[in-house]
Amino acid sequence: MKLTVKHGDKISELQLKKGENLLKILHKNGIFITAYCGGKGICKKCLVKFLDNPPKPFEHEKATLKEKIDQGYRLACLHSLENEAIIEIEEVKPVFAQIEAEPCCDNDKSHIALDIGTTTIAIAYIEKGKIEKTLNMLNPQIAYGSDVITRIAYSNEGGFKTLHKTINNIIKKLISDFKKPDSMIACANPTMLSFFLGFNPKSIGEYPYTPPFKGSFKGKFDDIKLYVPPVISAFVGSDITSALSILPENQNFIFIDIGTNCEFILKIGENYYSSSVPAGPALEGVNIDYGSIAQDGAIYKVSLENGFKVYTINNKKPTGIAGSGLVSAISLLRKHGIIDKSGKIVKPWEAEAPFSLINRIKKEGFMLAEGVYLTQNSIRNFQLVKASINTGLKLLLDRKGAPEPEKVFIGGGFSRTLTKEEITGSGLLSFGDEFVMLGNSSIKGGVRLFCEEERNKIEKIAKKIEYIEIANENRFEDLYIKSMDFDA
Ligand code: FES
Repeated sequence: MKLTVKHGDKISELQLKKGENLLKILHKNGIFITAYCGGKGICKKCLVKFLDNPPKPFEHEKATLKEKIDQGYRLACLHSLENEAIIEIEEVKPVFAQIEAEPCCDNDKSHIALDIGTTTIAIAYIEKGKIEKTLNMLNPQIAYGSDVITRIAYSNEGGFKTLHKTINNIIKKLISDFKKPDSMIACANPTMLSFFLGFNPKSIGEYPYTPPFKGSFKGKFDDIKLYVPPVISAFVGSDITSALSILPENQNFIFIDIGTNCEFILKIGENYYSSSVPAGPALEGVNIDYGSIAQDGAIYKVSLENGFKVYTINNKKPTGIAGSGLVSAISLLRKHGIIDKSGKIVKPWEAEAPFSLINRIKKEGFMLAEGVYLTQNSIRNFQLVKASINTGLKLLLDRKGAPEPEKVFIGGGFSRTLTKEEITGSGLLSFGDEFVMLGNSSIKGGVRLFCEEERNKIEKIAKKIEYIEIANENRFEDLYIKSMDFDA
């Protein structure tokens, strides 16, 4: 059976089996569309236009797409194709990523540093010791599950080759934007690395949770020399060890890398401990209502100075909420009592807050901008993330008998613009005195590892890191539930 896809000025003809899901067919064949909710039919981003004979719309689709239904639009993730079709799509393009990093190689060669996140992929192109360009893009594997566990489940059900092909296709496409580099570094969690390198990640998803390989990896990708910094455990990978290159060696700290999974590195004296907890993609702007990855128009900060104000990337018309915008808005609304301690948005008559905030409480949620709302559902998703992080941290510190560290390094693309007030005011972290926002620490560290000296340094430290399993501790659930509240 044939599917014809018009994308830009290109036409592709894809072969498919009757009953295959449209979003998955596209992504499997290297044609990428936005799918923030991972195919749950919620984000309304995976729009395709059927040029003839559109499938019958679902009730939910009729309600959300309204007049677009008669024009042939449908949500790709909801439809399995029973007949041949011709569709038109808007292909997703990588966007400029703000990553301030300092490579330490000063040779004439060109390199690529990759950060393959569960939700977003970032790439930095380095030439003659300088970063020439950085790009960001949604990981198209999201069509097969929004976190590593659901992707491993899909892989175990026969989807391994599809996931391997999907990630390799998008990386080849991203690299093709540049002159062929001399070498590459790939930073990612062990599951993403496995799909990228072609190792089956089955063992990561089942007890005793082991990665297909530990330590560093050297090989080739598409004929380009490839280095992967060391993998420590099933959930602590080269995205964490690469960050060791930008963390201090002479002081105690806790480093928290917040992504779809959240990893910790605790340094006490000469000892390093690592751990991880699942967090979900809310802080990457995914799986929340009106969410957006960091791209033009995404709200990354809010404030109350001469009235309510939102800040968007590149000052463009607000189109959605980035992870940092979510933290910033929750912090401000908590401060003024618009969100109560249980996480509920109060009724306008219950609020004792400036009028410029009260009049934004609507039935959809808190109106951040025309057509963009912070909804109750998004706040709940944030509470799940904050509960997971705070519980994980507490258990790790308890296990090592360590005091709450004063110095906290925070990694994750979303963290770049956050302030201490926003971190503590939103409850994202319930302790800490001095916060250092690293932004995308994985790629920032990765760009330094083209030098032998830095590589040796992190390889040496990585050998000392002890992994502490906490997610299965008995106390986890109790503490997690308690940590959902904002005053926990
Ligand atoms: S609505 Fe289809 S991916 Fe979100």
